[in-house]
Amino acid sequence: MSKILKEMDKRHMRMALSLATRGTGKVSPNPMVGCVIVGPEGVSGWGYHSEFGGPHAEARALEMAGENAVGATLYVNLEPCLHFGKTPPCVPRIINAGIARVAAGIIDPDPRVNGRGFEALRSAGVQVSDGILGEECRKINRGFLSRIERKRPWVTLKAAASLDGDMALCSGQSKWLTNSMSRNRAHILRDSHDAIMVGVGTVMHDDPRLTVRNVTGRDPRVVVLDPAFRTPAGSRVLNSNCMIYGLSGSFPERKNMLAGKGCLVHELDGDVSGLLPVSCVLESLAAQGVNSLLVEGGPKVLGSFLKERLFDAVSIFFFPGFAGEGKTIGSGFRLESLAEAVGIRFGSVRSVDGDLWVEGTNICLPD
Ligand SMILES: NC(=O)c1ccc[n+]([C@@H]2O[C@H](COP(=O)([O-])OP(=O)(O)OC[C@H]3O[C@@H](n4cnc5c(N)ncnc54)[C@H](OP(=O)(O)O)[C@@H]3O)[C@@H](O)[C@H]2O)c1
Repeated sequence: MSKILKEMDKRHMRMALSLATRGTGKVSPNPMVGCVIVGPEGVSGWGYHSEFGGPHAEARALEMAGENAVGATLYVNLEPCLHFGKTPPCVPRIINAGIARVAAGIIDPDPRVNGRGFEALRSAGVQVSDGILGEECRKINRGFLSRIERKRPWVTLKAAASLDGDMALCSGQSKWLTNSMSRNRAHILRDSHDAIMVGVGTVMHDDPRLTVRNVTGRDPRVVVLDPAFRTPAGSRVLNSNCMIYGLSGSFPERKNMLAGKGCLVHELDGDVSGLLPVSCVLESLAAQGVNSLLVEGGPKVLGSFLKERLFDAVSIFFFPGFAGEGKTIGSGFRLESLAEAVGIRFGSVRSVDGDLWVEGTNICLPD
């Protein structure tokens, strides 16, 4: 392939990726997909998947391109589908529209697709090139890929803490460790995840709403880890958007009260310490179509995720001061040697109106 064609492919794939991101927070559990159709006269059609159940990016771009699709190249960040879901499959539409070449980012690992889309296009005489900006294409759909490939959501651990790592004072006070600009950033983070998780300790102490406020966005689902179903009846999280995980067979009357509030109640077997095994919770969330999870704490729940190394990214907002002895990030998580420390690869370190915002990824993930 010539250098010029390679550069053109990358340029148009970047356009497709930028279109795809417009679906952030709106298409899950589907992947984010963008599409650009390019003929001799330039771009003749474009589209993106904008809402779950809505038309696919390819269908929108083909509709816009009309007759200009004949002989053109279709750029798309994910392999086109071949199965009936909420909408008809894209592959027959692409073939019928007369597209000559499909330039794609990555294979769709969904077992209903998984290479079959490419195969069908090739069999119909359409030229297929894949792997264009493959890494970037994986990155924007890391939640979807995680759910399909690892059977668990992409997990981001989020905390607000003092410089010495306290998420709360010993008294329990944690409001507000960070400034309003940091909190707005945290709301943007909520909007980009499918679900937010806290433990019952946080619900009992803070009675949080766990909604998206002060910024535009939609409310993610709420997940509460509550082994003994202690969540008080008047808690603000209790509605049909909330999932409560508790221990099998414990306190049926409390469980029924929570179900009566509209919550989806799940029962799991406990681990050796009587807590909920986070790996099983993640598996259950993935089975319910949760692609990405923001774990907002508190300290004990974060500790469980750190201990199990079951996370992909961290987003920590530091207040510019020391708070002394308190409830630190990862309470209940102890090591004998630094060699066992849970490593982070720093992504960015930014100042937010005097706070420090640190983001990073689990060092066990490939670069
Ligand atoms: N600064 C921040 O970013 C931030 C964020 C959230 C909370 N907070 C603060 O944190 C404090 C609450 O701390 P916390 O540690 O009690 O809250 P938490 O981590 O939200 O809740 C802990 C409880 O969750 C239950 N749980 C179930 N499965 C678990 C598992 N696998 N691992 C850990 N816990 C599990 C346990 O309930 P049982 O006791 O019933 O077994 C446990 O006691 C409050 O003061 C709150 O203000 C601060």
